[in-house]
Amino acid sequence: MKLFILVCVLGLSLAANPRLQKMEEMLNDLTRQLVSQQFYVEERIRSDGDSGIKQVRRLSAGTDSFNSETTSAIHSHPNYKDVIGFGEVNAVLNGVEFRTRHNDYSLEMPSLHKANYHLTEKIPYPQVPPSVTAKHTVPEQIAEMKEYFRAFRLQNSTIRNYKPYFKPVLCYMEGNWEWDTKHLHEPFHSETHHLDAMDYDNLADKVRLMSYTGMNDLHEDLAFLPKKIMDIDSNGKPRYAQWIYRILCNPIHSDVPLKVFKPIDDVAFRVTRKYNMSTYSRTEEARFTVAASANQAEFDEHEGYGKFEDRAYAKGLLDSLMHGVPGANNYRGGQHDTEFNHTALVAGEGRDRPENTARYHREYKLHHGMQINQRGFSDSNLWMAQNHQNKVASVILRSCKTVGTLKTNCTSTTEKFSYAIPLEIIYLNPLHSWNPYNLDMKNESEVTENGRKGDSHNANLAYKGISTLHFYQTPVEFFGNVPGQDVGVLDPKGAIHRVMASGIQTILPKIPGVGEVRQRWPIYPLHREGDSVGKEADALLEMLNHMSSMSPIFQEPATQGKHETVQPDLHFRLTSSHMNPLDRHDHEFFVPATDWEQLLKNDVWVHVLTAPTEGENQESHSHSLQIRLDKHTHKPIIQKCDDQNGKCWDGHTDFEQVTFHEF
Ligand SMILES: *[C@@H]1O[C@H](CO)[C@@H](O)[C@H](O)[C@H]1NC(C)=O
Ligand SMILES: *[C@@H]1O[C@H](CO)[C@@H](O)[C@H](O)[C@H]1NC(C)=O
Ligand SMILES: *[C@@H]1O[C@H](CO)[C@@H](O)[C@H](O)[C@H]1NC(C)=O
Ligand SMILES: *[C@@H]1O[C@H](CO)[C@@H](O)[C@H](O)[C@H]1NC(C)=O
Ligand SMILES: *[C@@H]1O[C@H](CO)[C@@H](O)[C@H](O)[C@H]1NC(C)=O
Repeated sequence: MKLFILVCVLGLSLAANPRLQKMEEMLNDLTRQLVSQQFYVEERIRSDGDSGIKQVRRLSAGTDSFNSETTSAIHSHPNYKDVIGFGEVNAVLNGVEFRTRHNDYSLEMPSLHKANYHLTEKIPYPQVPPSVTAKHTVPEQIAEMKEYFRAFRLQNSTIRNYKPYFKPVLCYMEGNWEWDTKHLHEPFHSETHHLDAMDYDNLADKVRLMSYTGMNDLHEDLAFLPKKIMDIDSNGKPRYAQWIYRILCNPIHSDVPLKVFKPIDDVAFRVTRKYNMSTYSRTEEARFTVAASANQAEFDEHEGYGKFEDRAYAKGLLDSLMHGVPGANNYRGGQHDTEFNHTALVAGEGRDRPENTARYHREYKLHHGMQINQRGFSDSNLWMAQNHQNKVASVILRSCKTVGTLKTNCTSTTEKFSYAIPLEIIYLNPLHSWNPYNLDMKNESEVTENGRKGDSHNANLAYKGISTLHFYQTPVEFFGNVPGQDVGVLDPKGAIHRVMASGIQTILPKIPGVGEVRQRWPIYPLHREGDSVGKEADALLEMLNHMSSMSPIFQEPATQGKHETVQPDLHFRLTSSHMNPLDRHDHEFFVPATDWEQLLKNDVWVHVLTAPTEGENQESHSHSLQIRLDKHTHKPIIQKCDDQNGKCWDGHTDFEQVTFHEF
């Protein structure tokens, strides 16, 4: 009640009190300045690099900078039924830098039928091929299942028609601003992690304390999600927006052949481990690039991925894959961008048709013709999608006509966007559905009751069925009896079976007769790749890795046989002098080897400036020398020192060559 009266009094007196009015104006200006300050930071980050992953949690240090972790957060939890291991990262999306919690996401996609904000549903796993279930014994099923894996591994549909059972999904990280509700809601599902705070302010306080103390939140359940003033309404009141991100997956309805992937060299990681490319591509840390189109790539059966030439493109396979991903309107929310009376059209097509801007895209065209525009200024990975969700915060542009001093006919323009980057393509396989021993799905406490720990010899200690966190149903023989990786599980009749984890993993254990099968193909971009120095470094690395095929573009190809190599500079010292008032001192100087050769051969004078030297009580000084050959002895001498002939003003008359001594 008291507060209400106070507000009334303030309101009444405001118009009358010029001082209050002045303060209100000042506050308005300051708020505007805050908005522009925030924008300045975003612009700075935008020009520093692309949307992409920036850092991961450091776990080790070393003698060299590259000995610590670089950018991989991918790991596996195959014993969990629905966990895709992905650690904490610093990421940038359209200039907004944020830090995630430990992500460990699950296989969910935007709602297929409803447009509700952030409504999701589970992605179904592929079924077991009927030719496998038709077999009567488990060994027969294993043999048949292996044929499907062999067909996938070799990308050969003649062996088995594997495509309906190895379904690719594109997992992506999406971010957008939300009108601030203070209430913290979990942006996406994880079996094992959730944001650990009461509300956004509490989350921000916790993260600040962790950053201040350098401590790691034990459960890795904190995230740094920025907040900003998004808009100042017509009354001058700031409206706040909260950054929010999530990780979802989108089923790809066409086949994506493995030949479209090629490993991107991470030389820092390779040098640390001394791995060649082949070994590196078989690690969880490996990252891949996607070919411009599938028919430009060739499958390398030995390596299990593609070979193709690097090239620039305006619109590639990755754009088609991302265009299948909807923004915050989910799959049903088609939308066209018609801002400023121009409709965004589909890029890269002769005929004009409006782009469905509710799907993620990074290119569009505005006018008739072929000119392709890219979203953003310099960001190569700025995929954007439009939506009309009330919750999504957006910039509001107000424009009014001014008649005299009156503003009339004001219009406001808003468009709402979210941003996304691709993270990885995961091939779902039938192992998730294949349960040849008919093991029962139970709750955790039942599976591990009375100290059961998966012993494969003692029925009293074997797991009693399987569960979300004890997801073991693949017969150990499928992977060829790998010792130590299997567990014992009781079937409903009480018989014990040796089984292996069946969840999603980056690289499956080696399957005899099939080989190594990679399930997860990380394709996420890096923030630093958008920096011009980063681009130079990547190009340089490419040249060094392919020295012979790239030799035509080296300025001086590294040839074998007779060739000139660089020589180190020659190192000299002026003989010391000690002329009053100077203490005894000398000076050093360096002459390029080619200059010295010219002097000795052709008597071309050498001009050098010595290094400065200071005595105890003097300011430092240096000397300008002209060196030439003596007419009689043909030995190099000081012709001139600081405009004096033959010697320096403080007594130096000669010099000697300094050579290295080996200890
Ligand atoms: C695919 O597999 C079939 C059957 O094993 C084989 O005859 C054929 O040569 C294979 N194709 C390729 C391209 O390797
Ligand atoms: C890469 O290194 C592995 C392990 O040292 C070796 O077996 C393999 O032959 C090498 N591959 C190539 C292409 O050199
Ligand atoms: C859009 O077109 C209308 C009608 O042609 C015009 O009045 C309006 O000023 C245009 N708006 C912009 C932003 O160009
Ligand atoms: C404002 O809009 C009204 C209605 O559209 C129109 O009649 C009027 O001329 C406009 N005024 C100005 C100053 O443009
Ligand atoms: C697990 O399942 C058993 C049997 O269905 C039930 O009695 C028990 O309450 C369940 N425990 C939990 C934690 O849900």
